[in-house]
Amino acid sequence: MANMNFSQKRQIYDAEDTENKKTVASKNGGAKTKKKPKSEGSFGSGSTKKAENGIKKSKEIEIPDIKELEKYVLQSIIGQDNQVRKIITSIYKAKKFKTLKSNILIIGKSGTGKTETIKQIAEKLNIPYTIEDATKYTQEGYYGADAMDAIYNLLENCDYNIEKAQQGIIVFDEIDKKVGHEQHDVAGVEVLKSLLKIIEGTKIKIELDPFGAELYDFDTKNIIFIFLGAFSGLEKIRQKRLNTNPLGFSVDNTEKKEKQKSRYLKKDLVEYGIPEEFVGRIDIIIEMDELSKEVLVFILKKSKLSIFRRYQAELRKQGITLSYDGKLFELIAEESLSLDTGARELSNTVNYIFENITYDVLSNPKKYHKCILDLDIVKDNTKYELL
Ligand SMILES: Nc1ncnc2c1ncn2[C@@H]1O[C@H](COP(=O)(O)OP(=O)(O)O)[C@@H](O)[C@H]1O
Ligand SMILES: [Mg+2]
Repeated sequence: MANMNFSQKRQIYDAEDTENKKTVASKNGGAKTKKKPKSEGSFGSGSTKKAENGIKKSKEIEIPDIKELEKYVLQSIIGQDNQVRKIITSIYKAKKFKTLKSNILIIGKSGTGKTETIKQIAEKLNIPYTIEDATKYTQEGYYGADAMDAIYNLLENCDYNIEKAQQGIIVFDEIDKKVGHEQHDVAGVEVLKSLLKIIEGTKIKIELDPFGAELYDFDTKNIIFIFLGAFSGLEKIRQKRLNTNPLGFSVDNTEKKEKQKSRYLKKDLVEYGIPEEFVGRIDIIIEMDELSKEVLVFILKKSKLSIFRRYQAELRKQGITLSYDGKLFELIAEESLSLDTGARELSNTVNYIFENITYDVLSNPKKYHKCILDLDIVKDNTKYELL
């Protein structure tokens, strides 16, 4: 692979590398960038215009108090109450108390609510964020994404308001795939190491205009970094640790085991292959629970994100009431559990169920007032009746 520098447009300079310490206006309304960070009182307020990555297009965004925020997130995210509280606390805390920023690692299988929880919190608190696919990252100097891309994406998501971006959230998703505990990917380890600088907090120079030579100061010290990953195989490492005491023989004390089991230790992550320096930058480790059948049923019935509820609501708007046996939810959950993608699979199952119904309703507007779902519809989506 050719040894390339950053793309021209995204060239960066270390703060020390240049004499150009001039502070310049940010693109967004000419705010001076070298102003001290926004005071606590202004946390989250102010205007932003953002659609793609979720920041609302509103001038005055009311920031809920922490309990309200928790209640709000729990309307969507089911079965992760403790985890949601921990994530909220660490993000909220960083916003309230400027000196208490934490970097967070969330371990959890696919479709357990890692990304969704962060999105909801960030959007509600009006914090700009970007979700970076770590698998696209390559070592500095090679083709592929690098640490600066994350910064520029974050900036883009708040209309290049530097001050706001400096208080934002950068999520690196699938961080575990970079090290793949079994394959010991040296390049992957280097990628993680190349992120260290921005994670530690550093002052960099950024260029916002592809043609201009103006450099802007950007400080990463208040950015909250959140790392996500499934870390398959980590459980084995934990188990090994729990079954072996330092002298190498088995510990039978179940009480002690249970206590230790309550969390992954950083040394498990190091053994997994995450570089020690990187692990050292993680302040909080949160482990999502796997979603049981009961939780999936609850998501279908109660979550604000429930796709079943959305179909139901849309049909209702067409004047059609749905009729079904409550056992249907269990069957959908069971069907969805057969794949290992958590709540994600619920959408596929539910979309399948409503496929023919949707077609019938769309091709015969105003014709029906009731739709009866047979329990067999989970396996055969012709099993319904429209009246
Ligand atoms: N705990 C949960 N409660 C309710 N819905 C969930 C939960 N976890 C996942 N989902 C649903 O699955 C989708 C994908 O979840 P996501 O948070 O992206 O998963 P991941 O853990 O892989 O990041 C969400 O948009 C949501 O609809
Ligand atoms: Mg995700």
